[in-house]
Amino acid sequence: MATNRTFTMIKPDAFEAGNSGAILKMIEEAGFKIVAMKATQLTPQLAGKFYEVHKERPFYADLCTYMSSGPIVAVILEKDNAVEDFRTLIGATNPANAADGTIRKIFAKSIEANAVHGSDSDENASIEGAFFFSMAERVA
Ligand code: CMP
Repeated sequence: MATNRTFTMIKPDAFEAGNSGAILKMIEEAGFKIVAMKATQLTPQLAGKFYEVHKERPFYADLCTYMSSGPIVAVILEKDNAVEDFRTLIGATNPANAADGTIRKIFAKSIEANAVHGSDSDENASIEGAFFFSMAERVA
């Protein structure tokens, strides 16, 4: 059953380039509501924990270094069919393969520095949101 929340991070490349506002504008114009949001910076250890599912992948170490290299914006979003609709809005992981008009096509620099993260399932959306936000930090 589809739930109505997903989780995103605006990654260090997009934050550093000053694209956080433009990306959030696209997200809101696509009908997503912001449930919780904060700017923060991950340590390499926290990035490793967040991406633990990828720990056997060859890009894991570089990904943890990259994701802790500068500030990010963590956001919980709400919309009907949130996980699937958000993945459509952001486009393919590799911006070279992302559809025109998607956030990654417009803002991503590379497959690693790909502007935004989007949860890949309802279960992971819940886990990832809880990684950054307590219940008291969210809109009810
Ligand atoms: P994200 O959607 O946040 O999930 C895992 C991240 O790993 C992905 O975006 C990219 O930033 C990164 N990633 C995935 N595949 C590769 C790859 N082949 N090479 C480098 N980084 C990758």
